[in-house]
Amino acid sequence: MAARLALQEVTLRFGGITVLRDVGFAVEPGEIFGLVGPNGAGKTSLFNCISGHYRPSSGSITIDGEEMLGSTPAALAQRGLARTFQHPALQLHSSVLENVLLGAHTRLPGGPVSWSLRLPRTVRSERRLRAEAVELLERHGLGWAAHLPADELSHGLHKGIELCRALLSRPSLLLLDEPAAGLPHSEVEQLIHSVRAIRDDDITVVIVEHHMGLIAALTDRVVVLDHGSKLMEGTAAQAQSDPRVIEAYIGKEAVDDAA
Ligand SMILES: Nc1ncnc2c1ncn2[C@@H]1O[C@H](COP(=O)(O)OP(=O)(O)OP(=O)(O)O)[C@@H](O)[C@H]1O
Ligand SMILES: [Mg+2]
Repeated sequence: MAARLALQEVTLRFGGITVLRDVGFAVEPGEIFGLVGPNGAGKTSLFNCISGHYRPSSGSITIDGEEMLGSTPAALAQRGLARTFQHPALQLHSSVLENVLLGAHTRLPGGPVSWSLRLPRTVRSERRLRAEAVELLERHGLGWAAHLPADELSHGLHKGIELCRALLSRPSLLLLDEPAAGLPHSEVEQLIHSVRAIRDDDITVVIVEHHMGLIAALTDRVVVLDHGSKLMEGTAAQAQSDPRVIEAYIGKEAVDDAA
């Protein structure tokens, strides 16, 4: 069986700067896979390459064995990819529910024309999608907020809205960029529970996170990036005790402290 997601020798350059250098790994269907590394290591850039927001200078990115390099974000969404962003961009004055419904665009029958004409078929499917969106919010601990304007929720909870929005597209592969950033400690358990439930629904998850407790609790395997290159691949426990990884983090902190 082909890997759900496979990267080979992915290199990304901006002008003279090499942001990613020959990065490769494979994620099997049903895995929760971690992507970790110090600030600036290239994690978000790699997500941007996978989701079609950046075009790598060279390499290969396949989903279920099909080459996707150079595909647009829209084509990748149709192919079953969904993602959240490190800095969520929500419609702050719309309700939480309306924000989640934005994730349904890949599932609208008949395209935007029949949607704007409000044909009976589209009205029925809108009703179904609304019910599904409410159910997703309830399942991920945000049912109470469905009808509140998004700007009344904290930054941490905006990540939860984005998660539900991504899930409404019914992805087979979900990329989460720092879902725990800004979450109070008490909410991290809910997030761990949510990601496990997502995997149990047969969605393969790749997660970027600095919260090592969450990475250790959730992931089957991790890749560690540093300065755009793959430092190691293994379990979270192996990564945490790997001298190269410790040095990458400590070196970075020492530089940050000196700044
Ligand atoms: N569009 C761009 N143009 C130029 N450089 C970029 C661009 N996008 C990212 N970079 C550079 O790539 C490097 C990696 O950034 P990236 O945001 O991918 O790191 P990260 O691992 O996600 O860091 P963090 O943990 O802080 O989110 C940085 O040096 C950044 O400045
Ligand atoms: Mg990032």
